[in-house]
Amino acid sequence: MAMKDRVKLIEVTIDDAEVLAEISKKAFDTDIDVGSPGEGGPPGYDEPEFQVRVMDYFDCYRILLDDETVGGVYVASKTPGHKVLERIFVDPDHHRQGIGTRAMELAMERYPEARLWTLGTPEWNVRTTAFYEKLGFVQVGWDNADPESKGRWYEKTMDPSQPYEMTPIGELTDGMKDMDIEGEILEKGIAREVRSRRRRWQTLSVANAGFGDDSGRIVLVLWNEQIRQVKVGDRIRIENGYVSSYRGINQLNVGWAGRLIHLI
Ligand SMILES: CC(C)(COP(=O)(O)OP(=O)(O)OC[C@H]1O[C@@H](n2cnc3c(N)ncnc32)[C@H](O)[C@@H]1OP(=O)(O)O)[C@@H](O)C(=O)NCCC(=O)NCCS
Repeated sequence: MAMKDRVKLIEVTIDDAEVLAEISKKAFDTDIDVGSPGEGGPPGYDEPEFQVRVMDYFDCYRILLDDETVGGVYVASKTPGHKVLERIFVDPDHHRQGIGTRAMELAMERYPEARLWTLGTPEWNVRTTAFYEKLGFVQVGWDNADPESKGRWYEKTMDPSQPYEMTPIGELTDGMKDMDIEGEILEKGIAREVRSRRRRWQTLSVANAGFGDDSGRIVLVLWNEQIRQVKVGDRIRIENGYVSSYRGINQLNVGWAGRLIHLI
């Protein structure tokens, strides 16, 4: 039977957590052969508890080859038009047989309304960059959230005749969430220190930036490393941002589930 017909995606249950953690560990442990500067993998990659936890946030599938579980695909599915591939891994005993490619095709087929898929992968990873590029993804920016490992940010427009529309900044209003926005940093304020109750009274740096496009401008809130990384004139995409009002002024927040991408 052709590989195309042997691979399936099945929604995971809590009972799958152990086997997924085991395969994920095996898969990411091979990163050392494809450019990783050290051992280990992404957060929680070897923990069953992590696989359980992410089921609350992501659509999680296991990859079946015939009847055997050989990997996992985790998709963040906030808006119908835009999906984010959070994680994919295949058992190294079955690498390079077309399973990852087929699993991605099946994941994309599950979301026919998705016009845009995005994902991040470390700069050093020569395997994933080849894998995603063969699938038609193109690098559009950099995700610098992890100071230890620069991330390439990729996207794939499913049908170029129906591109995904980012939300114009002029249309942002208080309370909007799961927003994707692109614009330019117009100015950057001075950083100030705040103590965060939610982060055990840690001291954090925060700065406001002016962020605009042809339709308008808004305050973009920058935290810690972002303050240093973002410069006036930079073109930035915020994925999964939200708008809140602070002292009567609307501001755009990246939030823990959002991403700040430096467009290239
Ligand atoms: C990335 C991964 C899911 C790919 O799975 P896979 O089933 O081996 O992928 P495929 O067989 O479908 O490969 C498709 C293409 O990707 C590229 N590719 C895959 N492995 C590669 C490697 N080691 N070196 C260079 N290119 C590679 C090739 O272009 C390949 O096509 P080809 O075999 O015809 O040349 C798998 O390597 C993996 O589990 N890696 C560890 C976890 C990881 O990095 N996940 C992604 C980040 S979340």
